Amino acid sequence: MFSTRIDSLRPSPIREILAVIDRPDMVSFAGGLPATEALPDWTGRISRRTLQYGPSEGEPDLRATVSERLVRLGIDAPPERVMILSGSQQGIDLVAKLFIDPKTPVAVQSPTYLAALQVFRMYGARLVDFDLLPAPDARLAYIVPTFANPTGACLPSTERDAVARACLDAKTTLFEDDPYRELAYDACDRNPIAARMAGGSWVYQGSFSKTFAPGLRLGFLAASDDLFGRLVMLKQAVDLHSSRLSQRIVFDAITDPGWDARLSDLVAFYRARRDGFDEALSRHLASVADWQAPRGGLFFWLQLRDRIDTRELLTEAIERNVAFMPGEEFYPGRPTLGTIRLNFSHAGPDAAERGLRTLAELIRAVDCRR
Ligand SMILES: Cc1ncc(COP(=O)(O)O)c(C=O)c1O
Repeated sequence: MFSTRIDSLRPSPIREILAVIDRPDMVSFAGGLPATEALPDWTGRISRRTLQYGPSEGEPDLRATVSERLVRLGIDAPPERVMILSGSQQGIDLVAKLFIDPKTPVAVQSPTYLAALQVFRMYGARLVDFDLLPAPDARLAYIVPTFANPTGACLPSTERDAVARACLDAKTTLFEDDPYRELAYDACDRNPIAARMAGGSWVYQGSFSKTFAPGLRLGFLAASDDLFGRLVMLKQAVDLHSSRLSQRIVFDAITDPGWDARLSDLVAFYRARRDGFDEALSRHLASVADWQAPRGGLFFWLQLRDRIDTRELLTEAIERNVAFMPGEEFYPGRPTLGTIRLNFSHAGPDAAERGLRTLAELIRAVDCRR
């Protein structure tokens, strides 16, 4: 009765966790949620025009503004090759549709963004390990080089060069996903790999979710000339265009003279949250786990000394009002056990303290039972 692709579709564990995080007293380290107090309080007016159908590629003024910023990063992204997306998650679906038939080799990092793995699997991709370089037969190489989800890692410049070179040599399309680049707390090379792809095929995408408001569902992509027109046709088939109201709100916000100050306040706020979280981790989990404070983004990646399957820990944790993401979910192949992704942006300091204390107790209790 249903298409074969639905067979490989599994419910996202994040969605299931998000369904319970509104419970009173729940401390959630699970989703990549911005702090609620950092979200904008919009009070603007809208014109009737905004409620009319609009262009599939997005509002021209927003595309031009995004283009300007990407060109400043060295990406060959004139306004006519910038498309506004209904969340950068949509970009993953469009690119997957463009490239993936059953068994198409797609190179991914291990571990990598769970919801990208889900989409690639749904279209039947054969996931191959990126390791340091994409496999030469991969048609598409998906990478989150800057403050990766789930590890928070930032790829050094030489490795960015090497990835671009390998993609160009093998004629593999680079798909660079970059939603966290602006949340940088310490210095590191964030220059996009797409800026090094002259003459090759590439898609670069970003998001307004982490710096502004995820509920508006808005992101953007730029792509090389050979891909852009096809991606627009695919978008037309999905939703005709992204919400014009969301685009208006985002355009007004990012062109407001106070935008840069807002962004640096946000970065300072999250830097303090990261540092506080790091200290709380040291207080509670230092004897059971190892980690490195991320230089940007929204996640800590923990490796437990005892390699327990953290998926089994989650049910108990939720019963005790703590949610986290088992790291095992982020692996394209056989997972490394004993890994945990913790979001540090959403929970306030008191909640984080409470949640991490509980998590430490649960981990120690499992260790004692073994
Ligand atoms: C690596 C990565 N890509 C894409 C997304 C999707 O973001 P959005 O659709 O909100 O732009 C996320 C969200 O957490 C992410 O971590």
